[in-house]
Amino acid sequence: MSRLDVVLVHVANLLVCVTGLVWFVMRHLMEPADEFALQNHPLEDEFQAAHVLTAPLLLVMLGVVWAVHARVHLASGTRARRRSGLALVFLALPMAASGYLLQVAVDGGWRDAWLLVHLVTSAAWIALFAVHQLAHRFGRARG
Ligand code: HEM
Ligand code: HEM
Repeated sequence: MSRLDVVLVHVANLLVCVTGLVWFVMRHLMEPADEFALQNHPLEDEFQAAHVLTAPLLLVMLGVVWAVHARVHLASGTRARRRSGLALVFLALPMAASGYLLQVAVDGGWRDAWLLVHLVTSAAWIALFAVHQLAHRFGRARG
């Protein structure tokens, strides 16, 4: 990956994760100040828009990462960071698909199911992305 690719993956990932996390806190963990309010927090719509608009940036960068990084390391048999890298590859699809499926689901039951998949895969993504970045430090510390 070029330096520019690395910076863009990190920026896109940060934008999507931060907007998603803040939106999650507003929607599911906050109580509205006014009992007749339609939203838990007045900025909910802004964070929803920011999440939906930044998600395609991450999708584009995931395509770049697959083409110039993940596929290349997998094909050449690189062992360093392989497990966390493979986990990221397998998580990317259900994470992205569930986001869009929850948006278009009409039936409440399906919406809840896709929401659960999206939240679980997103949480795992955040953790594994950190592991993938820090893997070599842990390795060095051990060895
Ligand atoms: C969606 C999947 C993946 C993502 C998003 C991802 C992302 C990244 C990022 C952002 C870096 C840091 C680059 C830097 O700071 O210079 C990195 C490094 C690294 N990754 Fe991945 N990676 C993925 C898959 C994989 C796979 C499948 C492997 C191995 C089979 C792998 C092996 C490595 C290695 C060895 C490094 C350190 C050397 C280098 O930068 O090439 N990655 N990865
Ligand atoms: C490529 C990755 C991702 C894509 C394409 C994506 C896309 C989407 C879409 C389309 C929605 C539905 C928006 C709506 O109902 O109007 C959504 C909801 C959501 N996403 Fe993501 N997302 C991604 C990653 C993440 C990550 C990493 C997080 C981490 C925090 C996250 C957290 C959320 C949350 C909390 C919701 C709201 C669920 C709700 O309460 O209705 N997403 N996402």
